[in-house]
Formats: sequence, structure tokens, C-alpha cells
Amino acid sequence: MIVTVDGYAKSGKSAAAKQLAAALGFAYLDTGAMYRAAGLALAEAGIDIHAMKRDAVRIAAAVAGYHYGRADDRVELNGTDYSERIGSDEAGAAASKVGTFPEVRKRLQSEQIRLASGGNTVCDGRDQGTSVFPFAEVKFFVIADATVRARRRVKQLSGDGPAPDFARTLADILFRDRQDTTRAIDPLVPATDAFILDTTELKVEEVAAVMLHLVNSCRPRG
Ligand code: DC
Repeated sequence: MIVTVDGYAKSGKSAAAKQLAAALGFAYLDTGAMYRAAGLALAEAGIDIHAMKRDAVRIAAAVAGYHYGRADDRVELNGTDYSERIGSDEAGAAASKVGTFPEVRKRLQSEQIRLASGGNTVCDGRDQGTSVFPFAEVKFFVIADATVRARRRVKQLSGDGPAPDFARTLADILFRDRQDTTRAIDPLVPATDAFILDTTELKVEEVAAVMLHLVNSCRPRG
């Protein structure tokens, strides 16, 4: 069984998707982490991701050889563990940028299908219910007010030193929303058969509990 959880940056979708996977006993596939690792790996290969058209051939050649490891909480690309380095806003922005590139999407999507083919999986991303797993049994699309998402991010980062600037954080989120929703291939849009969940006023546990109810009501009995 495949359950897809797509939605906006900082909407709380990943935290809820992880809890849902644990409650169901399913594997969890974080496709955002795959794009984040790809952004870092391409930069390490000396590719300027902000001039992707110029480096198109090199990018296509590099990603053709990308092979991801399978582990719920880690992201491993061609044998290198990127898990500790993917959490920054810079890595998120790089991921959003490389995600606009068709060859990157094609390669990562085929890796996602391979990784999820091992068994029941909750697939977390932007295009899981629309492009990668259009026949998923249950699909969620998670939204939340942008201001609330920016406040959550500021709060999350405040523990690690000086609090980031709220206006800058909100602007970054709005920029990423626009990049993710307007890209030419696989833009962030809800699948027509997705449950739309607005988390603006919900805690992660509440979001996960709603998802669990919906998955259980959609599951074949017996
Ligand atoms: O979910 P996240 O914040 O880790 O994702 C980072 C970026 O990666 C996101 O802004 C767009 C890109 N992405 C994508 O294009 N397709 C996916 N399935 C997952 C992420």
C-alpha cells in the first residue's frame, strides 16, 4: 500500500507523515531529503545550480548515476550519508532549485519508485500523489497559512542560536512556494483525489491522527 503526503514547505507534513508511518508500521520515504542531497552533491561536483541551463549536460550526466540508499531517517546518495547536512534553509532552497530541472526529477522519481517497491510506504514530497504514485491508495495534501509556517520555522531555529529574522523567513517561504507551484514539470498541486488538510491550527499529533483515521477508513477490510 502507498500513502502519499504532499504539500507546502514547513506545513508540518513531514513530521506528521513520519508519525503516520510509525503508527501504520509502514516505511517512510522522505523525497525532499533526496532533492536536498542532490542539491548538495551537484554543488560538490562543482555545478552552479543557479546557472543550471549552462551546466545542463553535466547535471544530466551526474544524476544519471545517482543511487539512493534506503533508511527511514537517513539519506544516502552514492554511498555518502548527507543526513546531517540537509536540514538548513540553504539546502532546502537548493533542493527547490534542482527540483525544477527535468533530468533531476526523472532520475529521483525512478529511485523513489524503486525504494517504495519494497513494501508499504508513506511517501512524503511535492509530486508523490500526482506524478510518482498516481494510483496510491490514499493521498494527502497538506497546507498551512504562510505566516504560521514562518513562525514555526523561526521557533524551530531559535533554539540553535540567534533567532532568524521573521520577515526574511516568511519571504523565503513565499519564494519557495512560488518556485514549487509554478515550475513547468510536476508543480506542487493537489491530486484531484487527495484529502486536503489545513494544519494552521493543528498540532503534529492531531494531523497524524486525522491521517491515520482516513487511511484506516480507506483500507480494504479483512
Ligand atoms: O520537503 P522539503 O522541504 O525537504 O523539500 C525541499 C525541496 O525539494 C522542495 O522545496 C522542492 C523539492 N522537492 C521536489 O521538488 N519534489 C519532491 N517530491 C520533494 C521535494
